[in-house]
Amino acid sequence: MKRGENEDLFRKFTGYLERKFGWFVIPSKIENTAFILGKLIMKHGEPGVMEVFLSPVNHDYFSAVDEDVIDLYSVSETYFNREPEILERLNQLTDSILTTRDKVNILCAASSSGEEVYSTSISLRDNFFNNEVSVYGAEINQRLINLAMGGIYTEWSLRTCSNDYRTRYFDPEGKKFKLKAEYMNNVYFKRYNLLSQNIDYYFNGIRFDIILCRNIFLYLNPNATEKVLENLLSLLNPGGYLITGLAEGAISERLKRNSYDGFRNIFKF
Ligand SMILES: C[S@@+](CC[C@H](N)C(=O)[O-])C[C@H]1O[C@@H](n2cnc3c(N)ncnc32)[C@H](O)[C@@H]1O
Repeated sequence: MKRGENEDLFRKFTGYLERKFGWFVIPSKIENTAFILGKLIMKHGEPGVMEVFLSPVNHDYFSAVDEDVIDLYSVSETYFNREPEILERLNQLTDSILTTRDKVNILCAASSSGEEVYSTSISLRDNFFNNEVSVYGAEINQRLINLAMGGIYTEWSLRTCSNDYRTRYFDPEGKKFKLKAEYMNNVYFKRYNLLSQNIDYYFNGIRFDIILCRNIFLYLNPNATEKVLENLLSLLNPGGYLITGLAEGAISERLKRNSYDGFRNIFKF
């Protein structure tokens, strides 16, 4: 389907993307958005998609149309050791938190296929005891969560990693790399929508000392950004840290007021 072929349905689709997932349709994505809508109509029929786009939004439920929307539309780009300076910071923050607590809980709040979660686990496992650190990954795309739980990665996910890193932390699995089991200990994955009105439900009362939410705000509209921040801050322990992507920095006034130690993307609450 091309933009302009069914303007009314197209507008309902983009409205739905904003309300349900928080995704802002930027002008350069319009053609691709129309193409995806065409695919959805071919698979589910026009009445089927229209019914979903017009139904009241429930952020905790995913219909068959939603599953396809998530898979076709969300940007899942990630890789091991992305923004490596953050890993160094995580080690320092973990060290300082462990002076007053005996355990540190870390959440990667948009974890895609798990590379960020496992980079964190690898980096901290080498410096701290296993039971001192738990790392949670949470994500809207179930297919990516399944990949993360398998812990098997292609060369592309490890494209910035040295050969030493690959052999130290992974076993060969055909042409792929299987993460060694010890780095999957105390690692957990959850499926959720960051816009949920019941975010606490997904974590059974667990509070986090550090939340990484990187490279997702770039795709969210301002209302969604505020809702996501409200949700994430409700999951933080007092004195906890929120870390955004280097390209995102302080995406809201609320963050600017809480900058930590001059870092442009680390905030303490
Ligand atoms: C570009 S990836 C970033 C992955 C990782 N944080 C990193 O920096 O490498 C963004 C991820 O956010 C997820 N996502 C997008 N909207 C979401 C939402 N409303 N709730 C939960 N996850 C979402 C996408 O499915 C995608 O896997």
